[in-house]
Amino acid sequence: MNSDSGHTQSIWMDTAEVPEFPALVEDIRTDVCVVGAGIAGLMTAWFVSRDGKRVVVIDDGPVGGGETSRTTAHLVNAFDDRYYLVEQEHGERAARLTAESHTAAIDALERIVREEGIDCDFRRLDGYLFLSEEDREKHPDILEKELKAARDAGVAIDWADRPPIDFGTGRALRFRNQAQFHPLRFLGGLATALANRGVKIYTRTHAESIEGGPSPKVKTSDGRTITARAVCVCTNSPISDYVVTHIKSAPYRTFVIAAKLREPVPVGLYWDTPDPYHYVRLMKGDGSANDYLIVGGEDHKTGQKDDALERFRCLEEWTRERFPQAGEVKYRWSGQVLEPADALAFIGPNPDGAENVYIATGDSGNGMTHGPIAGMLLADLIEGRRNAWSEIYDPKRVALRSAPDIIRENVNVAVQYADWLKPGEAGSVDDIPPGEGAIVRRGLHRVAAYRDEAGNMHERSATCTHLRCSVRWNSTEKSWDCPCHGSRFDPYGNVLNGPALKALGPAEPEHEHHEPRPQRATEARGPAA
Ligand code: FES
Repeated sequence: MNSDSGHTQSIWMDTAEVPEFPALVEDIRTDVCVVGAGIAGLMTAWFVSRDGKRVVVIDDGPVGGGETSRTTAHLVNAFDDRYYLVEQEHGERAARLTAESHTAAIDALERIVREEGIDCDFRRLDGYLFLSEEDREKHPDILEKELKAARDAGVAIDWADRPPIDFGTGRALRFRNQAQFHPLRFLGGLATALANRGVKIYTRTHAESIEGGPSPKVKTSDGRTITARAVCVCTNSPISDYVVTHIKSAPYRTFVIAAKLREPVPVGLYWDTPDPYHYVRLMKGDGSANDYLIVGGEDHKTGQKDDALERFRCLEEWTRERFPQAGEVKYRWSGQVLEPADALAFIGPNPDGAENVYIATGDSGNGMTHGPIAGMLLADLIEGRRNAWSEIYDPKRVALRSAPDIIRENVNVAVQYADWLKPGEAGSVDDIPPGEGAIVRRGLHRVAAYRDEAGNMHERSATCTHLRCSVRWNSTEKSWDCPCHGSRFDPYGNVLNGPALKALGPAEPEHEHHEPRPQRATEARGPAA
């Protein structure tokens, strides 16, 4: 399948067929409208439809075409922001609810796989957390602290004196009964099951605005209106909340390689402890020489570096030093992760108060379990059922202990506005080779200039349509990425990822004439759904 979230191809995109669905061509009424057809959106549709609700799902790309196609699909209650930090920040009860919700998420997904007979390589396996070389020196007590906090929270965890992969890791924490799966085969099967039970799925359908109220409305860029009783915004970055969650979370890009195995590797999920950390799994989990070793890490803030090739090289070097079984690297890709400042996701009522509008975001490295959690929690909130998880995932919460992190991330955002004082990256559009983009200074204006493979120049304003940072070129994913809150735009300025709602505006004209930009079918349409 083709992704609509970047240029690179993940191993999942290359090994799954996802069913296609039509675009919305009329105004409709429903009980619940879900915006976004990734794992959070489809799991929400699943749980809400089980309550007997009529459900409509829309997405501007294919099912699973956003960040779900770029995950590595570790399905775990091994919470990657650490239980001892959740306990410090939010208390013991919150740590218990966190563990309970992620454990329930794995169980729920397994149940759906079984009930619907979805062929997605789902398997249970253990996960191992070990200290990096540096942390053995600097933070040797991380594992002891995590063992105690995770046990207190109810996680099945113990010591493994020697984890199955033995490259001098020392003893590791073993998280029992985790899982992995093929995320796109799962989503494809789930989409089919949803359609069979009457859920309406529309792709190539952009949500242009979302309006709360007794009958909330989603308006599409094609001029259609969906009127519902509740709207669930399950986009990677919420497009219904302009400020609140974006102040409390930060967007990062993470990088992944998949190498064909020459010899078997012991089955398991593996993580080390630095920030950013490495995460490792096998594709199928049979450990055979037909399998792939998938390794991720090397994260940086979205839009603040353009050195993906170096990140891939570092990942490969790290992998080869530890896994001599790894053969040729066949896949390299990157994905986007939203890191909440206080470690917990934002799942619940839209924080700006829009009535009957709900969001699910802030997945950190646990998006595969946050998807089912969003489904279960949002279904309960819509039905008015009590759910204790709503306490910890409330998007309106203020966690005072995380104030230093919030300040640090927002100072970092403020610094990005200094781009407006800087010269362009290219002296002239003539310096930009085919297939590349660069920012060009034109008087007071900054222009996002892209030269396509045929040599035609396409220019847009570099001003992000969210809160007016200047976008930057991502030469690997061929996108304009905003360094402030992670909005992303394709080479022609169309929105790939929120919080921006609108495409980049027209560029300030130059005195010289350039080829007019061809009108793309999707151009000038609204946000990524
Ligand atoms: Fe907020 Fe661009 S994403 S200014």
